[in-house]
Amino acid sequence: MIPEKQVSLQEHARELEPELAKLIVAIGDMTVPLQNEFPHRLMGVKNAPNKYGEVVAELDSWANGFICDRLIKTGLVRKIYSEELESPLLYNESAPFVVTLDPLDGSSNIASNNPFGTIVGIYRKDLPCKGRELVASLFKLYGPVTTIVLATKKGVHEYVKHRTGQANYMLLHESMKLPEKGKVIGFGGDITDYPEQIYKFTKSLVKEKKLKLRYCGAFVGDFSQVLHYGGLFMYPMLLNKPEGKLRLTYEGIPMGNIVERAGGKSSNGKCSLLEIMPKDVDGRTPLYVGNREIVEALEKALA
Ligand code: AHG
Ligand code: MN
Ligand code: MN
Repeated sequence: MIPEKQVSLQEHARELEPELAKLIVAIGDMTVPLQNEFPHRLMGVKNAPNKYGEVVAELDSWANGFICDRLIKTGLVRKIYSEELESPLLYNESAPFVVTLDPLDGSSNIASNNPFGTIVGIYRKDLPCKGRELVASLFKLYGPVTTIVLATKKGVHEYVKHRTGQANYMLLHESMKLPEKGKVIGFGGDITDYPEQIYKFTKSLVKEKKLKLRYCGAFVGDFSQVLHYGGLFMYPMLLNKPEGKLRLTYEGIPMGNIVERAGGKSSNGKCSLLEIMPKDVDGRTPLYVGNREIVEALEKALA
């Protein structure tokens, strides 16, 4: 629900342990300098591919360096696992938190000025560990407005940035829950490469449940649709890519935590993404997130 009184992220985070609140506020505070850089790095790619051999957008690698630097400067982060780092960044052994980072999700949307964002997982324990160990996870969405959606054990809250300087994020939605009845569906990957059961299930959601197609090409943007309107987002297993595309540690687990704390369900087709013990920190996973009854029906169709 939308609160009557204007509450800043700083004030609202007081319900959390002080160190966690401090880290989350710092993650919010880095947005203004980060976004000031966007116009200068919308085009261009790095000449060296990343550890997956993928082309890296100029902004991907700059944002990674900037965010890691700011996280270390909080003095609260001892280790960072990032999609854009060859190996984890180790620092300040005694600091309380370990962070996973997709510094820029939706790189293909940068040059076309479509939504993109940042995905963060926060742990006290070191990895590898299951997503259930998350202390918090959040995503930032650089859309028409900039928002942060944060999941902690207290629930899922959305904040919108509308002032520079201090108190620049204000509470927009408190204790978010997916709507009972799902309205939208987004699906990534080559649909002609979908396994038969997934193809049929997708068709049934559109034809019978009348879910409307909403797909922007960035997980953060497509996820936000499902969080607000209910339904399903998936980047499924494909016949030629059985592990799908999205990365379990950097994308699936932090976002799976948000959808489950908002009353929905995440799955790799068999179980919750939060129940998987990641074998390889860079590993991919088929990903299904949305209303519990839809995701459970999909798991049944795949059984
Ligand atoms: P990233 O930019 O961090 O690599 O993530 C891109 C991901 C995700 O945001 C999106 O859902 C998916 O890639 C889109 O993949 P396709 O371009 O293959 O559709
Ligand atoms: Mn991503
Ligand atoms: Mn990325």
